[in-house]
Amino acid sequence: MIITALDYKNTDDALAFVEKIDPSLTRLKVGKELFTRAGPELVEKLQTLGFDVFLDLKFHDIPNTVAGALSVAASMGVWMVNVHASGGPRMLEAARKAIPVAGKSGGTKLIAVTVLTSMDDTELNRVGVQLSAEKQVASLTQLAIDQGLDGVVCSAREVALIRTIAPDSFLTVTPGVRPASAQVNNDDQRRVMTPAEAIRAGSSYLVIGRPITRADNPLESLQQIHSQISS
Ligand code: C5P
Repeated sequence: MIITALDYKNTDDALAFVEKIDPSLTRLKVGKELFTRAGPELVEKLQTLGFDVFLDLKFHDIPNTVAGALSVAASMGVWMVNVHASGGPRMLEAARKAIPVAGKSGGTKLIAVTVLTSMDDTELNRVGVQLSAEKQVASLTQLAIDQGLDGVVCSAREVALIRTIAPDSFLTVTPGVRPASAQVNNDDQRRVMTPAEAIRAGSSYLVIGRPITRADNPLESLQQIHSQISS
């Protein structure tokens, strides 16, 4: 239930970190910076090493383009991909068709970003959204549910709200998690929760970056987070 954000600038640094950890303790999130630099070869390498990969490219485009990009991602065998829910119902429908619902034997999970946590009510207003951020999150989550997506990326603070409208199987993937014992400060994250709090709130997967990637001993850091969650 932990996804480590592999926020490195190049393949060598990413692989040097990966050598220190274990696929039984974490999945890996590859985002725009690393993917733009390292490309599909790195994703394949991580999978060969036994890791499930969340390809965090947050696609947002016309339905046909998003569907095409997702088909390629799925053909790489990644565990999870995402799109912006604000691309609208037809885009989400095309996305779902490009990536059929993952069966028991696996398949790629498709989740949606609702409102970027960097945006507040004022900024949403500037892009023409009159609803509060919270109401917009609820509205876009409903859209993702209606189009049969597997879940959303959201702040741990929004999980409780999402749980009131989503089926139990709907996944919530939450960044902004800081273990009580983190060797680093909160960095640029503001509204943080501990892993145990996030799981208690109903989060399915915790996205954690620097507390693991910058720890002196990443493996130990992962083990500690697991034991904090299970206690
Ligand atoms: O190092 P840290 O734990 O803050 O990393 C969190 C990861 O989650 C980063 O890859 C960041 O881009 C991502 N993220 C986030 N907040 C969001 C969405 C994604 O921190 N709302």
